[in-house]
Amino acid sequence: METLAHHLLDILTNSVEAGATEINITIRESLEKNVFRFVVEDDGCGMDKTLLSKAADKGVTTKAGKNRGMGLYLLKSMTEENEGMFQLSSHNGKSTRLEWTVKHSSPKRKPLGDISGVIADFIFSHKDIDVFFMYATEEDTFSFYLPSMAYMYNLEKMESGSDLKKMKKVIQKNLERIKYNK
Ligand SMILES: Nc1ncnc2c1ncn2[C@@H]1O[C@H](COP(=O)(O)OP(=O)(O)OP(=O)(O)O)[C@@H](O)[C@H]1O
Ligand SMILES: [Mg+2]
Repeated sequence: METLAHHLLDILTNSVEAGATEINITIRESLEKNVFRFVVEDDGCGMDKTLLSKAADKGVTTKAGKNRGMGLYLLKSMTEENEGMFQLSSHNGKSTRLEWTVKHSSPKRKPLGDISGVIADFIFSHKDIDVFFMYATEEDTFSFYLPSMAYMYNLEKMESGSDLKKMKKVIQKNLERIKYNK
């Protein structure tokens, strides 16, 4: 995974696989505190204590298929390499919350990557999931929740490729407005 956005997408895939109907994504970026902080919360199936305690170990998975059980492990290793933290919590049968940070100025830190693309693509391809997205910088905060944005930007249908492009553009412009850093 080359960017922080790739890691985020991987974590969102876990939420989908857990059957989430609502996902909250928060990114807080602070140059003053020298940190990128990510939080993903979902209302999927959750994990019991045994699975929770080992979910981020290499190769641990409840899914069929080769080479699985790497997503959380790779993310956790990445946070450790960048003086960050990794905190996974869950209510079995109800919800999961994952919070992780990386040091902004860490020499090994991956670039943020295409956040607007990841968020727009994800929303577009999971229309049955309510996605709340928030990005905060020291400048300002931007929140994206499709039902309210759809009205504002005429994105109601979300059917065509041009709607997807428009959504990406809206998110990208707002990230630039709040002076996000890549
Ligand atoms: N949001 C979540 N809700 C419920 N269970 C989760 C969630 N995220 C991870 N898990 C559990 O933790 C296990 C390990 O997750 P991880 O992302 O490391 O691997 P994976 O998703 O199984 O495979 P990979 O990410 O390599 O495709 C999952 O198989 C799943 O059982
Ligand atoms: Mg995974």
